[in-house]
Amino acid sequence: MSQITIFEHPLIQHKLSILRDKSTGSKQFRELISEIAMFMCYEATRDLELEEVEVETPICKATCKKLAGRKLAFVPILRAGCGMLDAMLSMVPAAKVGHIGLYRDEETHKPVEYFNKLPADISERDVFVLDPMLATGGSAVDAISIIKRSNPRSIKFLCIIAAPEGIEVLSQAHPDVQIYCAAKDSHLNESCYIVPGLGDAGDRIYGTI
Ligand code: PRP
Ligand code: URA
Repeated sequence: MSQITIFEHPLIQHKLSILRDKSTGSKQFRELISEIAMFMCYEATRDLELEEVEVETPICKATCKKLAGRKLAFVPILRAGCGMLDAMLSMVPAAKVGHIGLYRDEETHKPVEYFNKLPADISERDVFVLDPMLATGGSAVDAISIIKRSNPRSIKFLCIIAAPEGIEVLSQAHPDVQIYCAAKDSHLNESCYIVPGLGDAGDRIYGTI
């Protein structure tokens, strides 16, 4: 089974409640997705390795720490994953970015691939896959299968709301992928939307409802 981390930080939970509210408009929705992603990035990068470096401060020489050259790649699943990207890049500007385009077929709820562009050196990188919603798990499983063909060093999946069904499916298909989310919700409804969820994340980010 995948390791799962649920962020219970009060600031994340507060922002998530506003995000879920159907009266929250697109501008604030985008801002909240970004703010939550920034907190999640902070936690999900907690295990990055450091190395000692010597720095000369205005006072004296000091032994300090810098990131030990681990290369990262952020891969949002289009469209909604892009809402988390800028926040991640603001924390780790040196990361490279790939994109995977998937949409859920409205009748079958199965993901359909329409775009795939990954960094050429992804095999040297630790990958963070971004998507606010893990519902049936189909999109996450397919996106990660596509990325794995390029042999990245490791993969983490960052979402904001996860359904128990999606966690189960993703853990079974890719047990090596650590899952991070801000909430594990109750279940999926008959249209495979997360309950209580926040509705359609892509539509709410881009105002396409
Ligand atoms: C949403 C969401 C995930 C997917 C989750 O995208 O952003 O990618 O559904 O559902 P699943 O776990 O059942 O696969 P959607 O297909 O609506 O596309 P969009 O981001 O372009 O709106
Ligand atoms: N995709 C969404 O955007 N929301 C859901 O609840 C399920 C899938």
